Amino acid sequence: MLDIASGHPTIDLYLARSYERVRGMSSRFAAAICGHLIRRQSELGVGGELVEIGTFEGRFFIAMALGLAPGETALGIDRFDWPDAGIEGRFLSNCAAHGIARERFLSWKVDSREITSTKLGEKLHERPIRFVHIDSHHSRECLANDLELVTPVLHRDGIICLDDMLHPGYPLVISAVFEYFERRPEMRLLCVVDREDIVAAPKFLICRGDALALYEHDLLSAFSRFHFSLNADMETYMALVLTPRPRLAEVG
Ligand SMILES: C[S@@+](CC[C@H](N)C(=O)[O-])C[C@H]1O[C@@H](n2cnc3c(N)ncnc32)[C@H](O)[C@@H]1O
Repeated sequence: MLDIASGHPTIDLYLARSYERVRGMSSRFAAAICGHLIRRQSELGVGGELVEIGTFEGRFFIAMALGLAPGETALGIDRFDWPDAGIEGRFLSNCAAHGIARERFLSWKVDSREITSTKLGEKLHERPIRFVHIDSHHSRECLANDLELVTPVLHRDGIICLDDMLHPGYPLVISAVFEYFERRPEMRLLCVVDREDIVAAPKFLICRGDALALYEHDLLSAFSRFHFSLNADMETYMALVLTPRPRLAEVG
């Protein structure tokens, strides 16, 4: 098992003992890095709500929600219709089994394409989102929708985490991200979190350019042994790359 931790004791206990027993698709490597960022935000006083679009049975949602600061809540959005009608029940019982008190989170059974940012803001009692994981339908249309859905309600120092970027099974989806960067030049790719496996694929971490300083150096120093030293070439800037087993091609 890869030796990686978020530095948040409750999240780390869950990651070590239970994460892979909750059915789901996100890697423990990515969950530890995201848990670290959620902890970092709490330390910096970046307060707000934690949101996941596409909770499935709660594997990643639980890791996020264990990082809630006092007074915050988590919101899990899913159609809850796949692979069967029992999915929301399994999500709720997994949350209960892993210590997420019922009053600390909301479960919203809805298709993300049928809600607006205004409705989302109301659901969050007009509190900003400080961390959101987008992991719903892997199509350009749904990802573009979800990015535009969350951006107006994002905390100015908030982080958007995108699942299954550069996944061999969804080669076109990445174009929705680059179109988003063109529409929203204030947003930057903070970090590429590389895959553990084809079923635990890479994630992108995105934030406003002027929030980069809060996270970039901290991520690098916390996870230096996972740093791919060539980083990611975004043409006008370089973004951090963290990978479970960093190495370079041997050419000499
Ligand atoms: C890949 S699974 C999520 C895995 C989970 N985040 C994890 O890390 O274990 C995708 C989920 O997104 C949900 N979903 C797909 N399209 C959706 C949409 N437009 N709105 C809400 N949920 C959606 C599906 O029902 C499914 O539960």
